[in-house]
Amino acid sequence: MILKLAIVGGDGTGPEVVAEGLKVLDAVGQDLGFQYASKPFDFGAERFLATGQTLTDGDLDDLRQYDAIYLGAVGHPDVKPGILERGLLLKMRFDLDQYINLRPVKLYPGVETPLKNKTPDDIDFLVVRENTEDLYCGNGGTARLGTPQEISTQEMIATRFGVERCVRYAFEQAVARKEAGYPGRLTLVHKTNVLTFAGDTWFRCFNEVGEEYSDIQREYHHVDACCMYMATKPEVYDTIVVPNMFGDIITDLGAAIAGGMGVAASGNLNPDPDSTNPSMFEPVHGSSPDIAGQNKANPLAAIDSLALLLRETGRLKDETLLVQAGERINAAVQQVTPRFAGKTLDRSGYSTTEIGQMVIEAL
Ligand code: IPM
Ligand code: MG
Repeated sequence: MILKLAIVGGDGTGPEVVAEGLKVLDAVGQDLGFQYASKPFDFGAERFLATGQTLTDGDLDDLRQYDAIYLGAVGHPDVKPGILERGLLLKMRFDLDQYINLRPVKLYPGVETPLKNKTPDDIDFLVVRENTEDLYCGNGGTARLGTPQEISTQEMIATRFGVERCVRYAFEQAVARKEAGYPGRLTLVHKTNVLTFAGDTWFRCFNEVGEEYSDIQREYHHVDACCMYMATKPEVYDTIVVPNMFGDIITDLGAAIAGGMGVAASGNLNPDPDSTNPSMFEPVHGSSPDIAGQNKANPLAAIDSLALLLRETGRLKDETLLVQAGERINAAVQQVTPRFAGKTLDRSGYSTTEIGQMVIEAL
């Protein structure tokens, strides 16, 4: 198989960090002997400012020709908030039905956590965030705009279908992790004491599906309590399943306790084996326009996202070489992080290209 990759560098530091990922891909591809073909796509602020286009139906058809999408970051100070987020990133997630947002929260060796007395053994969990519903896709609107009678609404959607496919995926992840030595615990995070309708759909679905997974211990935490536990006893988490909006919020907190955005990787997955919709992999961080083009951004999150891309695409397509490649890159990232001891990941003083080179040497 020749792995076909669509590359979306995007805005700000996105293209710089993705370039390092591609160097790492070259190195691991040569070493393990697998082939890949990649094509750059110019989606992002520049194209929007020049043409008014974010992501067209034709673009989506083009993307469907690829096995996976590797994205840097989108966002630009000259583009009004919401346009690229909704028109590009969320459109890609929704229209390619990437219904799982996979976000590992793992403190890598040598990385400093802001949590006192916590070690890599304590901060090591997986967040499975639903990625196509919830507050992100409900109806909404504003009437009597700008008047004292202004009214705006924004709906929260939970469909049994959307919740169940996410919950099932999360149980499967918990099973796989248990086989790898984790406790086998899945925690649903919601706010069922207030969101009694959407929360109830999640809660019942979680427990009904959970009956099929008798080996997996079920827990439930309200999202506010979850934030507290993440900051005080993150070791209670193994796998978390969470709706879109709460998942967005707790994964930024997760990134923070794991040392910051410098190393937070993510995958937007369509894990259906028969789907023609590719998955998309991106660092959790944004486009950092303040340091764009200065060779300062930390590419580890982008490189680790590439590791996820290879591992997940390999699993989906039954290509063990790709899985191995992903695992090797992740291992190399964890060999590099001790060099950040005593520094922060985000502003370490190492340049983008230096860090990329460190990963290649570790490989
Ligand atoms: C993320 C981001 C996005 C989200 C924004 C940019 C739309 O915060 O990937 O976490 O809310 O999902
Ligand atoms: Mg976010």
